[in-house]
Amino acid sequence: MRYTSHMIDEAEILDNLQRVLALNDRGDFTVPAPELYPHQWLWDSCFTAIGLRHINIDRAQVEILRMLGAQWSNGMVPNMIISDEHHNTRDAKFWRSWTNPAAPFEISTSGITQPPVLAEATVRIGELLSKPERRLWYKKVYPRLLKYHEWLHTERDPHQEGLTLQIHPWETGLDNTPPWMKELHEHQMPLWIQAVEKLKLAGIIKLFRRDTKRIPAEQRLDTIEALSLYSVQRRLRRKMYDINRILSHSHFAIEDLSFNCILIRNDQLLREIAKTIKEEIPDKLDVQMHKTIESLESLWDPYSNQYYSRNFVTHSLIKEPSIASLMPLYAGTISKERAKIIVKQLENEHAYGPNYPVPSVSVESPWFKELGYWQGSTWINTNWLIIDGLRRCGYEDHADALRESTIELVGNGDSYEYFSSLDGTPGGAENFSWTAALTIDLIKYNK
Ligand code: GLC
Repeated sequence: MRYTSHMIDEAEILDNLQRVLALNDRGDFTVPAPELYPHQWLWDSCFTAIGLRHINIDRAQVEILRMLGAQWSNGMVPNMIISDEHHNTRDAKFWRSWTNPAAPFEISTSGITQPPVLAEATVRIGELLSKPERRLWYKKVYPRLLKYHEWLHTERDPHQEGLTLQIHPWETGLDNTPPWMKELHEHQMPLWIQAVEKLKLAGIIKLFRRDTKRIPAEQRLDTIEALSLYSVQRRLRRKMYDINRILSHSHFAIEDLSFNCILIRNDQLLREIAKTIKEEIPDKLDVQMHKTIESLESLWDPYSNQYYSRNFVTHSLIKEPSIASLMPLYAGTISKERAKIIVKQLENEHAYGPNYPVPSVSVESPWFKELGYWQGSTWINTNWLIIDGLRRCGYEDHADALRESTIELVGNGDSYEYFSSLDGTPGGAENFSWTAALTIDLIKYNK
């Protein structure tokens, strides 16, 4: 039986959720889930810190500082720090971050980034500190945050057109989300993977996968998708994560809608941080930030009344709807009219409003699978971002309703990686950190 909101014993749930965070605590960072995810991930740590701030605010700060400690000398914050226990083992060699001179010497990291929610986590922690403590905290992180945002707006916007580009779907955090999968099939499917597909060898390759040993295969990426993501990663590694080499002769770079919406909001939060400590945002960055807000509107498709991601090279919109379509609410800069159109999608049970919203793709999409990994299942981090966006766009009632259904979903203390949007069945890894952390935050704070 699933719990309904009035039956939830909040104290008991909070206890269970805190236990998950304690289980995944490795001292100075939190793993997303035991075994399956043994390293530190960028946006996972930000979401974890947002929950941890209610339990142990010093520890929440440590989580963010460790992540920023892995910043490359060019400003990039990598999406993963390879854990010491795994140092020089398979995962470190898989990335070989040391091939790029900007990577730190003493630790191994990935060579790509993830959605920039660091300013969000910083401000959320700041909210619960006294004014003098907040200023100290902001002073500590601001120089690195600034450098990261400058890197995003410069290296990742080489033509200074306003939108940042991403070079791997892992950078969006929504690994196999349909718009990226569609582009991958069109532009970056190596012949050997096509052969594997034709010769039906995927079944044999599946035997070597780590994730499907623990989690039912139908809840993960299919093997062809997984192989394609690895093949894109190998190309980035061959190019030693050098953006000029990566972009030459490649059509596989996307100005991702969700990533850019998250950047817009976090730019705004960076401004807040700067203001609190009486720092000036450099002129160049100031102009770039404005331009990103304006350029978001070029992702609007007037025919289908939706925002989409865009191919960086051809500039064509990738008209494949996904949860990214709702993220302009989190950006918070769109017109009232467009916000209203997006909210309608959330109200529609055949689109993004089934029993346990918000599905990672619309229920009516041909990609929709009830427990599909980023292809139908409901995730707590995207819900949290949408709740926050709804509030700032003036949709308090919608935000409250989504907050309640999200708490209800996790309500029995099952801190799973994702859930069926139709009936709430849990899926993916157990004891998943951001599910626990963000539910703590929704219960304690986000009212
Ligand atoms: C998967 C998710 C990504 C997350 C990572 C660690 O790759 O798609 O968003 O950061 O796992 O939890």
